[in-house]
Amino acid sequence: MDFLQVIKEKASAAQRRIILPESGDSRVLKAARQIVDQKLARITLIGEERQLPRQASDLRIDLSDLEIIEPAAHPKREQYVKTLYQLRREKGLSLDEARELLNNPLYFGTMMVYCGDMDGMVAGSISTTGNVLRPALQIIKTERRYQTVSGAFLIFVPDCILGEHGLFVFADCAVNVNPDSRTLAEIGIQAGHTARNLANFEPVISFLSFSTQGSASHEMVDKVREAVQIAREMEPSWAIDGEFQADAALIPAVGRQKAPGSPVAGKANVLVFPDLQSGNIGYKLVERLAKAVAIGPILQGMAKPVNDLSRGCNSDDIVNMVAITAVQAQATIRP
Ligand code: ACO
Repeated sequence: MDFLQVIKEKASAAQRRIILPESGDSRVLKAARQIVDQKLARITLIGEERQLPRQASDLRIDLSDLEIIEPAAHPKREQYVKTLYQLRREKGLSLDEARELLNNPLYFGTMMVYCGDMDGMVAGSISTTGNVLRPALQIIKTERRYQTVSGAFLIFVPDCILGEHGLFVFADCAVNVNPDSRTLAEIGIQAGHTARNLANFEPVISFLSFSTQGSASHEMVDKVREAVQIAREMEPSWAIDGEFQADAALIPAVGRQKAPGSPVAGKANVLVFPDLQSGNIGYKLVERLAKAVAIGPILQGMAKPVNDLSRGCNSDDIVNMVAITAVQAQATIRP
């Protein structure tokens, strides 16, 4: 899996500051140690400064060279309270509620990223997707050009010559339940940037459907067709096409037959699913039936990176997600 090695090398060169708010989990502590030892990022843990190193040493994990911060005693706490209040008062948040929210490590970590005191956050080993995403969506919000955040997977299918030598980006597999055409277009463009920044290949983007270029007519197909037009307007120089059935997108002979002349049919390496049911089912089928490696969900379109872990993750999954977050953080730095 060379692509993971490339991501780690990029992360190592970038040396971004990543906050891990779930220090109560031994997998997080183990991963933090591995990340620092492998020099993939600078790690800050949220936890009790005195107790955490002791708890870690019981697990034979040395945290002596890691930064640990306590939200209650942090010198910028009141500044974060005021900033959070200002950001959310129109949504009905009071100053006291903002203060209370910052007792939650997920909100505290998100505020640190928003304020530029950290470059990215990784959480979710003990928290639900909703609880990780909600503060990020409320506070950090989307990159200026987008209206939505979405979730992609890097999918590596062993012994496969399709896509980018078996490597693909699948989106959206995690966030938007039933995107409209504008949202679907954004998901495709975000997935293209994920392909470029993380997977290191030029995106060939196929918008998937049960129809190939008019073979069926239905409002669900119209949505996908409109998304292709909008996505082309967003990135006119990219290879973007659809609507395609999956075989027309992936298999050269089928692509030539069903969509002759298309720059994408039969060559797609970025697959955009029409809704979350198909995206989530699609990636899990490929993962289980083709024994593919599925890395994600990688949140795309956020102004600054926050990523969610599966609660079934192991410490290697956390290390990988921190490396991905560090590379995303580097890509969001504008000269
Ligand atoms: N992009 C950008 N902003 C968003 C998005 C989005 N996709 N979704 C919600 N927001 C914003 C809203 O605009 C709102 O902002 P505001 O408060 O400033 O107005 C804020 O986030 C909260 O919005 P809610 O509608 O209240 O969202 P909620 O917190 O209920 O849920 C969530 C957001 C958790 C992402 C929801 O969309 C969700 O549950 N999605 C499906 C997640 C899921 O179950 N995925 C499958 C499992 S993951 C896996 O298998 C890999």
